[in-house]
Amino acid sequence: MPEHTDVIELLKAQHTRIRELLDEVAYAKGDARKQSFQDLVRLLAVHETAEEEVVHPFARQHIDGGEFVVKDRIEEEEHAKQALYRLDDMDPDSPEFLSEFAALRQDVLAHADSEERYEFAHFQQVADRGKLETLARALRAAESIAPTRPHPGTDTAMKNLAAGPVASVVDRTRDAIRKAMY
Ligand SMILES: [Fe+2]
Ligand SMILES: [Fe+2]
Repeated sequence: MPEHTDVIELLKAQHTRIRELLDEVAYAKGDARKQSFQDLVRLLAVHETAEEEVVHPFARQHIDGGEFVVKDRIEEEEHAKQALYRLDDMDPDSPEFLSEFAALRQDVLAHADSEERYEFAHFQQVADRGKLETLARALRAAESIAPTRPHPGTDTAMKNLAAGPVASVVDRTRDAIRKAMY
């Protein structure tokens, strides 16, 4: 993503990647499914935490009816996070995993569509390009501390984080954003 990407472009690009990973987990098997699921967990933890810290507070404050729109989205996110915690403890090839994952997939797809339609679609009317780029920078800070796809050769801290439980990714993402913003 180029440096001057605004927050809407960045969030939509993350949604696209989330949809791809949801498909990969659903259709892959064995180790490939495990790897895709780990990628998905990391990306969702970073993405949803960044939305909770940066995007939803902005929407709540600036768009018409923002308070109600955001309340529904946060409930959906909380629901998805609980499902991720449960899935994280399951064998990805077990029937329980597959049925829980199928439900999560539908929920996350619907959630992302609702955000784009009821939340992000209104941002351009209430904020100029500069503000939207500033919001994007806070999201990038989150990505840099909790990389969504660590490559071979990245440092040990990143590898540890990548292997860590969902909750630690959420915590570290929140810390990174708060440091970047305040
Ligand atoms: Fe979200
Ligand atoms: Fe989202």
